[in-house]
Amino acid sequence: MAEDSSHPRICILGTGEFARALGARFRRYGVPFWFGSRDPARRPTGLLKEVIEKSTVKNVEEACTESDIIILAIHRRHYGLLERCETHLDDKILVDVSNEPGSELGFERLATMFPKCAITKAFNTASSRAMALDEGPCVYVCGNDEAARRVLLRMAARIGLPAVDYGRLGNGGALEEQVNRLFPGWGWPCLVVMVISAFWIVFAACRAFKLRKNPYSPERLPTNVANKIVGAIAATCLGMAYFPGCLVAFVQLARGSKNVDLPKIIDQWLGIRQQLGLFALILATLHVILSLVLISPAYFPHWYPEAIDGKRFANGTPPDPLGPIRMTWIGETVILLGALAMVALVLIGIATLPAISRSLGWREWRCVQSHMGFACLLLTTCHVVMRGAPVWLNKSVKDVIPTVSFLSLLLPWLTVGMRLVLYTPCLYRRVARIRSGEFSKYADSGSAGKDGIKKETDDGAVGDLSIVV
Ligand SMILES: NC(=O)c1ccc[n+]([C@@H]2O[C@H](COP(=O)([O-])OP(=O)(O)OC[C@H]3O[C@@H](n4cnc5c(N)ncnc54)[C@H](OP(=O)(O)O)[C@@H]3O)[C@@H](O)[C@H]2O)c1
Ligand code: HEM
Repeated sequence: MAEDSSHPRICILGTGEFARALGARFRRYGVPFWFGSRDPARRPTGLLKEVIEKSTVKNVEEACTESDIIILAIHRRHYGLLERCETHLDDKILVDVSNEPGSELGFERLATMFPKCAITKAFNTASSRAMALDEGPCVYVCGNDEAARRVLLRMAARIGLPAVDYGRLGNGGALEEQVNRLFPGWGWPCLVVMVISAFWIVFAACRAFKLRKNPYSPERLPTNVANKIVGAIAATCLGMAYFPGCLVAFVQLARGSKNVDLPKIIDQWLGIRQQLGLFALILATLHVILSLVLISPAYFPHWYPEAIDGKRFANGTPPDPLGPIRMTWIGETVILLGALAMVALVLIGIATLPAISRSLGWREWRCVQSHMGFACLLLTTCHVVMRGAPVWLNKSVKDVIPTVSFLSLLLPWLTVGMRLVLYTPCLYRRVARIRSGEFSKYADSGSAGKDGIKKETDDGAVGDLSIVV
């Protein structure tokens, strides 16, 4: 492709969703182009149909033959359409915008079909919805013909799209992969949360319906028992999100270096803390909703002394709803501590929203993610202890241990305990100095990996959590 054409003639092949969104941008920026369609006379339908109405639409042969750049806004399986004008395509730039998982890559097919054309891959990472927005999405351009790449980068800039030169055509596969990935990084966290959930569902159901002295009626499963399960999963996820950070801090303390070689599983665990934090936020929200529905003398009679007052129920009449039924200080404290924990969790979540996190300085970010995270964990443990303790005090140790509230606290307790130790002034200062690199990077030769290379572990906060919302 010769680079002389500063105003190349542009054809968008197809009149579908993507073609119309791209056409709308060309129109908005006053860049001339035309559509190529199998049926130019057809009345357009769908979103942005006016773009077609107001633009020139030619038949496929004419549109392609008269253009320098042909943007193939059609599905890959219809590329055969171009064979009609094959002889007129030599030296033209063909732009593959397709994303179709599982099939032969579009640009590879085009390269085989039209070896004399400058094949490029571009625009595929932008959805038609994003393309229609004023602030255009960033697009990538790759292709083996450098001049063709430059022409497309200039064209993208002319229609207000920040464009990145993505190098050789072979990189197009990565561009497609980027689009076709389904929730990258969420596989392991989902699996971990599923295992935790399975454990709590089985355990809490057995406990509620079999192991208790006064088993619940099965009718209590959808909300009452489910609320315990959801609370327990949320508390476990929260503990799991903060525990590995504390563990790393202890290992760094022991080694006197921030560069420690960790077992692979800990590395992976560190990598999924954000997702675990997000799961904790979602489940805690569900727990709050269910709790707000349940909080009443019928479900928590011990939090309402008037409601269990024998006199009120002596003749079988329910307590007067307008009467002086108030919670005990224990009930109120459980709710207060839970609500404070929830607020802390929500604040951590908000702080990770891209717009907010960009505005935070490093110290502010650390403060929210690390100290607020610790506060959230501490408040959660206090909330559950306050809920469980009045019952635990009347039970033997062997009856307390298998309760949902006690078991759900094991990991949060361990993490809070480790954090409290790390907060002691001498250790806190030492960890800070180790992490700022004051101590020798290679203080402990035992920390080198099998390959002799030391790995830099997360040097963020002591057990920081960032929730990607
Ligand atoms: N939609 C997006 O957000 C998006 C984002 C990135 C990339 N893409 C890619 O853009 C391409 C087009 O996607 P789209 O969403 O715009 O699809 P679409 O709405 O289904 O439009 C496809 C167009 O292809 C044309 N076409 C040519 N031969 C055809 C045939 N034999 N049967 C049916 N249609 C035929 C049709 O236009 P005529 O009837 O006028 O010929 C039709 O409007 C795909 O490769 C897709 O992977 C789409
Ligand atoms: C970070 C947020 C929270 C977490 C992780 C959490 C976790 C827990 C856990 C593990 C339990 C023990 C379940 C049991 O006793 O079997 C519990 C109980 C309870 N929580 Fe929360 N909680 C949170 C916030 C809240 C809030 C904001 C409220 C108030 C609306 C609340 C209300 C309750 C109630 C009423 C119970 C007793 C449930 C029952 O035993 O049936 N929690 N919570």
